[in-house]
Amino acid sequence: MKTIMRMFLALLLCFVLSQANGQKFENLAERPPMGWNSWNKFGCEINEKIIKEVADAMTSNGMKAAGYEYIVIDDCWQIGRDSLGNILADPDRFPSGISSLVDYVHANGLKFGIYSDAGTATCQGRPGSRGYEFQDARTYAKWNVDYLKYDWCFHGKQNAEASYTLMRDAIYKAGRPMVLSICEWGTNKPWEWGKNVGHLWRTTEDIINCFDCKNNWGGLGVLQIIDLHTEIGEYSGPGHWNDPDMLEIGNGVLTPAEERLHLSMWAMFSAPLMAGNDIRNMSAETLKLLTNKEVLEIDQDKLGISATRWMKYGDLEIWFKPLSDNNYAFCFINRSNQPITINHDLKTTIKKFKVDGNYKVRDVWKHKDVGTTKENVVGVLPAHDVIMLKLTQIFL
Ligand code: GLA
Repeated sequence: MKTIMRMFLALLLCFVLSQANGQKFENLAERPPMGWNSWNKFGCEINEKIIKEVADAMTSNGMKAAGYEYIVIDDCWQIGRDSLGNILADPDRFPSGISSLVDYVHANGLKFGIYSDAGTATCQGRPGSRGYEFQDARTYAKWNVDYLKYDWCFHGKQNAEASYTLMRDAIYKAGRPMVLSICEWGTNKPWEWGKNVGHLWRTTEDIINCFDCKNNWGGLGVLQIIDLHTEIGEYSGPGHWNDPDMLEIGNGVLTPAEERLHLSMWAMFSAPLMAGNDIRNMSAETLKLLTNKEVLEIDQDKLGISATRWMKYGDLEIWFKPLSDNNYAFCFINRSNQPITINHDLKTTIKKFKVDGNYKVRDVWKHKDVGTTKENVVGVLPAHDVIMLKLTQIFL
């Protein structure tokens, strides 16, 4: 009898624990999320006027129509907690409160993202969510937030997987579907455990505004980030994406070629695309680049496969990405400061991937059909530039 009683109690405990645990809200990020984040351009200098104007700009300038959807306020919106522990927005910068800002963004037909940190403080020393996970998740849910970027500063000895799982469970318990963006910089290999925890995970330290450089706190340029994606593509897919960080396009440092290469490679990785510039005041060229439909389609392809680096000939690299409907994308990138002459037989390359047949070849930056796989890809690739090709099967 005692044994039966014990078994019953053990089963009851399992049931109670399983009810207490949460799960991830599914079907929120079947394609890589697209939007805008305040950090790269504004840092802590944010306020509700900027966020509203950004939402207006995204709605009216064609970005929304191109698929950009989330407006994410990053660090520094929060200033403290009230006596009950509720998180408080900075009243000087957000006098109308976050809830009304969320309403404003929603009224534009867009979604709203917020930022917090799994540790005791955010990277800029604002209150973190450690110990307040369920309370903060309830607050975000009450405000109708759609997306949480969750950082990793001041985490002490916390276990990353457990900390992010706790916030996942808190969001689930709060009952409002929110995308959970894990931002622990790839330190604890989130690609190995993040799939059931969040919808995207940062793979690297922060992007910095340069093409080929590093800084002394770990910030990485575009090339340095690309190099960290040669081995982890297989972990990314619909609902759970590798996140190589926000875009630096339109922030005044990268050349047009470097910006093309940046966007092309993020699209090859099926990366979340968070514009990081001042979209209220950008040039026509920047807008055109950010809304290049053919490139965005490669990013948003429903298979969600991340590219493989197929060949590296010194400073010339060729990346390959299978797309839906038996189509393929190729990127030729020139890492060097010198032009590189290309004469490449794509037919032989695709055969090595057990892909047969004849394909139409389209240059998605030039918006031009440039031939078929019967001919070689021939040309001169300028310094730091990219050729991005889409191959579509020709049925005879
Ligand atoms: C970390 C993150 C950045 C940004 C800052 C804000 O560095 O990785 O993306 O959110 O914190 O302080």
